Parts: sequence; structure tokens; C-alpha cells
Amino acid sequence: MPDRIIYWGIIGLGKIAHKFAEDLLKVPRCELAAVASRSETKSKAFANTFKAKKAYANYEDLLQDPIVNAVYIATPHSYHFDHALLSLKYGKAVLCEKPFAMHTAQVQTMITAAKAHNLLLMEALWTNFLPHYKKAMEVLHVGAIGKILRLEADFGFEPIFDAESRVFNKELGGGSLLDIGIYPIFAALSSLGMPKKIEANANFFDNGADSECFIHFKYDDKVEAKLHSTFLTNSHTKAVFTGTCGVLEIHGRFHQPSSFTVTLKDEEPVTYNFKVPYHGYFYEIDHFNQLLRQNKTESDVMTFQRSLNLMELLDTVRTKIGLHY
Ligand SMILES: NC(=O)c1ccc[n+]([C@@H]2O[C@H](COP(=O)([O-])OP(=O)(O)OC[C@H]3O[C@@H](n4cnc5c(N)ncnc54)[C@H](OP(=O)(O)O)[C@@H]3O)[C@@H](O)[C@H]2O)c1
Repeated sequence: MPDRIIYWGIIGLGKIAHKFAEDLLKVPRCELAAVASRSETKSKAFANTFKAKKAYANYEDLLQDPIVNAVYIATPHSYHFDHALLSLKYGKAVLCEKPFAMHTAQVQTMITAAKAHNLLLMEALWTNFLPHYKKAMEVLHVGAIGKILRLEADFGFEPIFDAESRVFNKELGGGSLLDIGIYPIFAALSSLGMPKKIEANANFFDNGADSECFIHFKYDDKVEAKLHSTFLTNSHTKAVFTGTCGVLEIHGRFHQPSSFTVTLKDEEPVTYNFKVPYHGYFYEIDHFNQLLRQNKTESDVMTFQRSLNLMELLDTVRTKIGLHY
């Protein structure tokens, strides 16, 4: 049915789940049907705040609820694989947070499982769906700044070290690369495609999680991307594309709702502003709902191949810097 209401469930009620739920309430023709936490108190409080009808104290109980059509997985990276497979097993469409899994083989298994169950599966790479990012990619792909020669993109902030937090805890996939380095890498992938050569080096915390990564992608014809992720400093978190005819700069923080400026040779800069009355998760949710209503099992925007490529790049960088999970 083209207008059918999509009933969502969320598992893992941490920081991102709260923002996601706020946006979900604004998306037309969908409802937050159920939420699940390991803690009953947390689950009830979350359900109360976001008017979810059901609050579970166990992820699997939510997955067995027949009202739920779509599950948003908002647990730490190291759980994405298991939780995605479990959700698919119970017949749910899955929107899973980034990084999709811990390595490419897991992503491949998740895709195989989704195909076997004939269910929709998508990585929640929200940047892909944001109006400013979509427009910036369109401008780049029509060649407005000419041939792209160089991308410089960074993502840096300075969280206080806490060995238990999922951001730093290696057991949970902690470290800058998988948490925030994924965004500059995604910017390179979505603009320049897969590189021919990758160089990378990193610094590490005492617990072995990477504190920062310096990544260099090389393409044909001296085209390159210089990418940086860091938990050691607050950086501009912008993406600057230099082409043969001009420069396109996505302003900080480029991965979330933002704006961009195009400066062509001998012309005044033109800035594109976008009014976004949400955190920005609205757009990926709306896209996912539409796919479900059309009985699609794969997104035409965040395709399986794109997720596989992204994970492959993360895997290669990890190998280069000697980071093992
Ligand atoms: N798209 C974005 O903008 C964005 C932004 C931030 C994070 N993320 C992604 O979303 C995921 C969650 O990030 P977050 O910042 O929301 O993390 P968080 O605040 O730590 O929340 C993660 C939740 O996962 C559940 N969980 C299950 N097992 C856990 C364990 N062993 N240790 C800790 N938590 C456990 C917990 O929920 P319960 O206690 O309720 O079970 C916890 O609250 C990450 O993969 C991250 O990459 C995406």
C-alpha cells in the first residue's frame, strides 16, 4: 500500500537513538511502535518521552513483536552484525547505524541474509540523504567545478577519554576511524569513487584504539583525497573539493545538515544554504519508509555495493595502520 503506516522499533537507547526518535516523530506516516533497552527503567523512560506504545527490557522481545515493521539498530559498532542478523531472522526490515559492521565479510553476510529473507536492509549513513550533501554531490557530478583534483576532509572533536565508553572501548569497536573517520572516507567514496592506492598512518591511545588517522587516497591522474579523523582536537570538520575550474567547500560540520560554497575562477562565491528543521535523520527515515512501501529490499541511494565499498576502505585503512579488532 503506497500510504501504509510504517511501525518502527529501536534497539539500544543511547545518544543517537534519542536524536533519531525525535526526528522519527516528525516523519509522516510512521510511528515509533516499540523501543528496547537492556534496562527496563531506561526503556520505559524512553517510551514515555517519545510516546512509543511498547517498552521492552530485552532486544529480542521487541524483535518478536509482530507490530514492528522496521528496526533501527543503535547499538555500538561491534553489535551491528549480530543485531542485524537477529532482526532479519525475526522478519524485520533493518536500518543499521554506521559502520554497518566491523569488517567486509560481516557486511557481505548481512546482505546475503537480507536477500535470503527478502527483507530491506540499509546502512544508516545519514549524510547521504541530507539536502546540502545531495545538492553538493549533484553540483560536483555535473562538473560545475570541472574535474575534481583534490579532496581534503576532516572530522575531529575532543571527547574526554573514558575507557568504558563505546567511543574508546576497543571491544565495542572504539576509535576515531570507525566512529568519525568513516565520514571523510564516505565523502571521498561518494565524490571520487574507489581509490587506486591507499596510504594511512595513525596514533593510538594506550588501550589500542586509534586516537587519530591520517589517510591518503590516490586515484588516476594525480587526483587525491587527504582525509583526517581525530579525537585529539576539535577540527573544522569540513570537506573541500578543488577542481580544475573552482572549489566547492562543504562547511563544517559537513556530515550533518550544513551549507556549501562554490567559488569558480574569476567569479564571486555562491553559497547554498539549506533550512533543515530536524537533526537530519528525518531524510534517511523517510527514504527507508518509502522503500518499504514499495516493497524494495535495497536502497538505490545507500546501495549494498556502496556499503561494501565503504567497509572495504575502512578495512584497508585498518590494515595499513595495524589496527586489529
Ligand atoms: N548517524 C549518526 O549521526 C551517529 C551519531 C552517533 C552515533 N552513531 C552510531 O550509533 C551507534 C551508537 O552510538 P551512540 O553514540 O548512540 O552510543 P551510546 O550512547 O553508547 O548508545 C549505545 C547503546 O547501545 C546499547 N548497548 C548494547 N550493548 C552495549 C554495550 N555492551 N555497551 C554499551 N552500550 C550497549 C545501549 O543501549 P541500552 O542500554 O538501551 O540497551 C547503549 O545506550 C554507533 O555505532 C555509532 O557509530 C551514529
